[in-house]
Amino acid sequence: MADIRNNFVGIKSPNPFWLASAPPTDKAYNVERAFKAGWGGVVWKTLGEEGPPVVNVNGPRYGAIWGADRRLLGLNNIELITDRDLYVNLREMKQVKMNWPDRALIASIMVPCEENAWKAILPLVEETGADGIELNFGCPHGMSERGMGSAVGQVPEYIEMVVRWCKQYTRMPVITKLTPNITDIRRPARAAHAGGTDAVSLINTINSITSVNLDNFSPEPSIDGKGSHGGYCGPAVKPIALNMVAEIARDPETAGLPISGIGGVTTWRDAAEFLALGAGNVQVCTAAMTYGFKIVQEMISGLSNWMDAKGHRSLDDIIGRATPNVTDWKFLNLNYIAKAHIDQDACIKCGRCHIACEDTSHQAITAFVDGKRHFEVMEDECVGCNLCVNVCPVDNCITMVPLKAGALDKRTGQKVQKTYANWTTHPNNPSAKQAAE
Ligand SMILES: Cc1cc2nc3c(=O)[nH]c(=O)nc-3n(C[C@H](O)[C@H](O)[C@H](O)COP(=O)(O)O)c2cc1C
Ligand code: SF4
Ligand code: SF4
Repeated sequence: MADIRNNFVGIKSPNPFWLASAPPTDKAYNVERAFKAGWGGVVWKTLGEEGPPVVNVNGPRYGAIWGADRRLLGLNNIELITDRDLYVNLREMKQVKMNWPDRALIASIMVPCEENAWKAILPLVEETGADGIELNFGCPHGMSERGMGSAVGQVPEYIEMVVRWCKQYTRMPVITKLTPNITDIRRPARAAHAGGTDAVSLINTINSITSVNLDNFSPEPSIDGKGSHGGYCGPAVKPIALNMVAEIARDPETAGLPISGIGGVTTWRDAAEFLALGAGNVQVCTAAMTYGFKIVQEMISGLSNWMDAKGHRSLDDIIGRATPNVTDWKFLNLNYIAKAHIDQDACIKCGRCHIACEDTSHQAITAFVDGKRHFEVMEDECVGCNLCVNVCPVDNCITMVPLKAGALDKRTGQKVQKTYANWTTHPNNPSAKQAAE
């Protein structure tokens, strides 16, 4: 049986599934229930500095995007950090950690970007017995207007400075949580690394407006007719998060820096993909908010079963396995040629593939043959783009079939080359031409 125990920067947990800092980890009641359900760890809802806690809006704080079956695909929120008293949170954290010594308990922190504020809170957190801290440099709404959260995460110099303070004032491992609301995720990751962070975690939420009420012209969620951008998360953000994790994992300046992957993890498969791209574990928020804490049980059994089936004995067998396969476009093999193929037995003759290819791709799928509705790929026109695969409503009805070396590509009239060749040496590439001259 696969061993899915996790050791992330020395923090041990029975599995790699942690709850991200958010409402599911807001208080002892929730965290106790989460641990009972089987979560390996939690990042407690972000703590603020001592004093009167922040105040949340008293109306709707969520917006959402749904698929046609009303399944929640994207969630947007305008919630702030914890609105509970700091000392109440600290007391509860200490008790929960005592009750659950085998689970990871991380304190998420967001205080003003001043040395004394960080210096003051770190010993209080350390006293709870928490296994580590996560610096919330990601929250994109409300707190960022006050110079915290993503306002810090968008300035690499600030990130480096705060991480240095934390490394100086605590012995707990430091995880730096990054905002995706930035052009190049490698820059904040490098800054955190330079400051001495033990790990980075990403992504926090993405600036978003999910919808506009067309009766009163207010963005949703609407508070008395006005709205404000929120932070977007859930399955819809997973592709963005995966790319950012991969960018950091394959950057020579941060290669080897532990990463906690966050963003849209809903199934064991999502988690396995994050691990394969270089994450050491994953954090989950929206899936727990949508389906409840017990969803972790499917994640655990699914990951274990897949690992058993594939012969992966521990998480180390998976972590980073896909990272070397992420490359720049210019290194992709231009001699790789594939053609779409339609399984006539599976086809329900809806015609979507034809119209997509006819109107927006390469006019390579028939609609009628001998006067009858019939959808078939014309190999002499097909460029292998796979648009048809993506619009076909029947799973596996259209597949992409690679041509073997030596086979004739009917579109170009050329034989498929065995060798690998990319854009850097292609004759149409002006810089390749210059280099050759
Ligand atoms: C309602 C809500 C509140 C959140 N509050 C926090 C927070 O206090 N601190 C934090 O670091 N991230 C916060 N997040 C972001 C999550 O921790 C996580 O980074 C994000 O939701 C992406 O993960 P997901 O797609 O699994 O939801 C919050 C997210 C939601 C939905
Ligand atoms: S792969 Fe692209 S070009 Fe080929 S049939 Fe499908 S949509 Fe048309
Ligand atoms: S989209 Fe799929 S099911 Fe519909 S006609 Fe094309 S191959 Fe058949």
